[in-house]
Amino acid sequence: MYKLIAFDAYGTLFDVYSMAQLAEELFPGHGQAVSSMWRDRQIEYTRLVTMSDPSASGSKYYLPFWELTIRSLRYVCKRMELELTPIKECKLMDQYSKLTGFEDSLSVLKSIKERQIATAILSNGSREMLSTVVESNGLKPYLDQVVTVEEVRLFKTAPQVYELLLKAFPVHKEEVLFVSSNAWDALAAKWFGFDVFWVNRLGHPYEEIGEQPNYQGKSLSEVLKLIK
Ligand code: LAC
Repeated sequence: MYKLIAFDAYGTLFDVYSMAQLAEELFPGHGQAVSSMWRDRQIEYTRLVTMSDPSASGSKYYLPFWELTIRSLRYVCKRMELELTPIKECKLMDQYSKLTGFEDSLSVLKSIKERQIATAILSNGSREMLSTVVESNGLKPYLDQVVTVEEVRLFKTAPQVYELLLKAFPVHKEEVLFVSSNAWDALAAKWFGFDVFWVNRLGHPYEEIGEQPNYQGKSLSEVLKLIK
């Protein structure tokens, strides 16, 4: 039985791809492309920062995820030759800070708590941006902790990030189930030693390297089948 179920934030509990709609309003005909390139560049920056200085004291290139998110948006607009006015940037980032949760995010966390299992978020996100999005979706009462990379100043998939959960909770690796919709995140957590549940909403293939996830499903709700 798991003592802790920890969730990735962006893409797993909160719908990052919902940004495409606003991007489409601001850049007609390009919404989908902006949103998906934005996400890719954001994650690429986290990896660049982490791999270029994976020191125990954190990367000297570290910038908070919020800042990397803005910088990646600016990059994508330049690359696509779209004019990102300060107003458009502000609108997009404001929506990012209050992303909507998936329809089952709240009910799943609530059901886990009802079964006396600890819950957490483990995210690349900065503390402030996570606390805003957690509050705006009403998830706060159902989360024991929101664990962020700020302390280690390295991003996923550095093992030091997954280790943070073992520092934050009195649990062993084998007692943790990590839930992510990002296959790369699930794979890295599995490599670290957690059992993992991959939320595959879009029916994508899993990564072609590493082991398969312990579990997978089309929605967060399927996690509940494991703890009945
Ligand atoms: C996070 C990103 C990776 O929340 O989705 O950590």
